[in-house]
Amino acid sequence: MKTYRICLLPGDGIGPEIIAEGVKVLDAVGEKYGVGFTYDEALIGGVAIDEMGEALPAATLAAAKASDAVLLAAVGGPKWDTTDPARPRPEQGLLGIRKELGLYANLRPVTIFEALAGASTLKPEVVDGVDLVIVRELTGGLYFGERERFYDEEGAGPDGGNGQRAYDTLEYREYEIRRIARHAFEMARKRRSKVCSIDKANVLETSRLWREIVHEVAADYPDVELSDMLVDNAAMQLIKAPAQFDVVVTENMFGDILSDEASMLSGSLGMLASASLGDGVALYEPSHGSAPDIAGQGIANPLAQILSVEMMLRYSFGMREAADDVLAAVTAVLDAGFRTGDIADASTPEDRVVGTEMMGSLVAEQIQPTE
Ligand code: NAD
Ligand code: IPM
Ligand code: MN
Repeated sequence: MKTYRICLLPGDGIGPEIIAEGVKVLDAVGEKYGVGFTYDEALIGGVAIDEMGEALPAATLAAAKASDAVLLAAVGGPKWDTTDPARPRPEQGLLGIRKELGLYANLRPVTIFEALAGASTLKPEVVDGVDLVIVRELTGGLYFGERERFYDEEGAGPDGGNGQRAYDTLEYREYEIRRIARHAFEMARKRRSKVCSIDKANVLETSRLWREIVHEVAADYPDVELSDMLVDNAAMQLIKAPAQFDVVVTENMFGDILSDEASMLSGSLGMLASASLGDGVALYEPSHGSAPDIAGQGIANPLAQILSVEMMLRYSFGMREAADDVLAAVTAVLDAGFRTGDIADASTPEDRVVGTEMMGSLVAEQIQPTE
């Protein structure tokens, strides 16, 4: 039997609750397709800080590297929030594993499930026809630039004070832009052949380099239509006319912000899956965080996690049919009217509002071995 080894990183907050539902779906897929999935659970984020003193213990990185794919839930929470730069933060674990695994391409597909048209805060006619994917550069830019916090007279200024200063550096290298641009164009070829590159080239030098390199890459893809858009306008266009987008490619921080915004087209941040790809082992995780406000209540939406499993099957294991099954299973459960609280609207009957576990089970039950 073909066997895949999956490194599980539940992390913090709702993480353990939703990852269990991802595993349920994987097990159902394994049963149907005669494939074995073995799980290797490791610590990351706040729980890793508590138990090991650091957000990304060496053993976790080793487990990830030894796996065929990594499934992560979420990290972070108020318990570990600190403004002291000397103290470890859960998010460092996530950034660390992205960097160590070379996961420079983060794909965040915004798919509208018809049944959820009413769950979006936008009018149904605005979200009608939306089918876009954000290709976010994930290992460069402000997240990984040189940074410092220090004291000096200039920081104090005329009013005195402690004189603190801080900076983060936004830097991009040509090769980093080229490889993410290629990824976006390749993806566009499999979709509607449109790439919109989002930057702030009217102000930032990094964005001017970004635009130049993206256009250079575009020359190799004459069949793909390229447009540029400034990020402030893009934030507006995503709400005004989101159906205009096919593949959106952008730098790390813009992609972070725009993807949370775009998630609301589908009805909830709890619906937005993601795949983080590089040249080796890939990592799959929902785009949302640890949702501390609802953690431990069994009400989190596990669908972003489950749809991340769908992406794992597709991209890491080449199990296209199984991935389509997961998508069909989610669609069927939503069509039957089942909703977690975040995607329930006024028309959802009370008995169809379900918790995390129930939603996971309903999806898994749809994936039946064929007789
Ligand atoms: P968040 O994404 O955790 O939550 C934002 C809002 O969306 C909350 O109201 C939350 O309840 C809701 N939400 C998120 N996921 C949901 C789901 N699956 N089902 C239902 N509702 C859901 O963002 P935040 O509150 O700004 O951050 C909380 C912590 O998570 C922070 O420590 C942050 O650093 C971390 N974070 C981690 C990741 C990650 O691990 N990939 C991503 C984003 C934020
Ligand atoms: C995400 C998250 C992370 C990011 C944080 C937790 C470091 O918001 O995956 O979108 O900003 O990349
Ligand atoms: Mn984010």
